[in-house]
Amino acid sequence: VTEPVAQSRASKSSSRSGTAPKRRPQPGKKLKVGLIGFGTVGRSVAKLLTRDTHGRLVLTHICNRNIESKRVAGLPAHIKWTDSADELLSSDVDILVELIGGLEPAGEWIRRALRAGKSVVTANKLLISECGPELVKLARKMGQRIEFGASVGGGIPAIIGIQEGLAGDRLYKISGILNGTCNYILTKMEANGTSFAVALKEAQELGYAEADPTSDVEGFDSRAKLVILTQAGLRMQVRSDQIACRPISSIEAVDFVYARELNCTIRQISSAQRDNGDGTRLVAAVQPALIPLASLIAHVQGSENLVTATGEFAGRMVFSGFGAGGDPTAVAVVSDLHSIARSAGPPAAVLRAIAEIPASVGGEFTVPHYVRFVVNDRPGIIAELATVLSRYGISINAVLQKPGFPQSSLSFVMTLEPCDSSVLNRGLEEIARLDFHVRKPLCLPMFLE
Ligand SMILES: NC(=O)c1ccc[n+]([C@@H]2O[C@H](COP(=O)([O-])OP(=O)(O)OC[C@H]3O[C@@H](n4cnc5c(N)ncnc54)[C@H](OP(=O)(O)O)[C@@H]3O)[C@@H](O)[C@H]2O)c1
Repeated sequence: VTEPVAQSRASKSSSRSGTAPKRRPQPGKKLKVGLIGFGTVGRSVAKLLTRDTHGRLVLTHICNRNIESKRVAGLPAHIKWTDSADELLSSDVDILVELIGGLEPAGEWIRRALRAGKSVVTANKLLISECGPELVKLARKMGQRIEFGASVGGGIPAIIGIQEGLAGDRLYKISGILNGTCNYILTKMEANGTSFAVALKEAQELGYAEADPTSDVEGFDSRAKLVILTQAGLRMQVRSDQIACRPISSIEAVDFVYARELNCTIRQISSAQRDNGDGTRLVAAVQPALIPLASLIAHVQGSENLVTATGEFAGRMVFSGFGAGGDPTAVAVVSDLHSIARSAGPPAAVLRAIAEIPASVGGEFTVPHYVRFVVNDRPGIIAELATVLSRYGISINAVLQKPGFPQSSLSFVMTLEPCDSSVLNRGLEEIARLDFHVRKPLCLPMFLE
């Protein structure tokens, strides 16, 4: 690298005045990039950055604990390898790339970088879902940028597409498949007719699922991404603990059989929408749901992800591709770096409207529902169910029963006309007290549009 690296004039004056330095990319000058976290994504980011020797970005620092064990051959000799975050943060790098993950010390290092007049790129969904608004505010105060395109959907340009490409629209709904592990498990159950436990074991053996799959299976990983998408797309601040999560482990092989009868399949769907009234209420949830077999989302296979953004003017836009992996995720990180490098003027990201706090947050969608019962069969069961449902104003659409189940463990399905899921849940609590159940009824929303 022979070109001079951008020197911030502001940083010299600010050190005299004692205020935070304001680094602004100067057109045509190289920008120094410091990387913290040389793991799966960090290694790919270093590879991509050092291949492009004619661009504006130059990787100058790589930081990781036990750095000697992390060193790899083939990267330019000028790169400084260090296990001291302090050394990197007090250096003259213009942009910090944070790829260690977790809340701390990642959060503290990002705050220090922003206060020191550096912009930040991170893939850290946990941190951004917890502290995104605070960090964006700090970046705005310091005249810097914080970009987190890799935190949702790996290499899919969903955040940048929504924030930049759809900035002219008013989005009212974001939904999609945000967790490749759940998608892998559900597509295997669908294709092979296997149980959840068998599909999970296979996913673990092939490295698609962690030894402890809780965060994926319970929906917590998707929920963190939905929080970020809600903020980026709907401009609404929501906390993870406000979004309902339901696990995919309650899905059984027979549910795919019944779903197919309904021309549907089952996926873990993350969905957030402004409500139909004044738009100040947010309805959001992560849950398994029935979706039409003919829909784009049903064709998302294995570990792929898909995000749809629906706006008042442009209608529905779809972003899909590999939602994880070192190289795809590194593309999103490096694209964010290029975006920062391109902006020589005031930082675009931090000038975006700060997200508003919704008047209320709920998890109830007014849609048709699928309810699967496993019962010890006897006459009158359907009539008893219909009596309770009608008390809650809920109409039955259809009853499906496949032949071949033993009478003592008979599985059948009811589909219900559109109803508010919170009203239905109250009805199902009453239904669960009836004496014929072998297992608790399973209720899934049907997202047919
Ligand atoms: N992998 C993906 O497909 C993917 C996709 C989207 C987003 N992300 C996000 O990208 C980030 C990085 O993920 P990854 O898969 O690259 O993780 P990873 O492979 O575990 O890499 C993390 C690296 O950071 C280092 N590290 C952790 N804590 C540290 C500390 N306190 N001080 C110094 N170094 C530390 C680790 O060192 P040790 O080796 O010593 O532990 C490791 O080299 C996470 O926020 C993740 O959520 C990952």
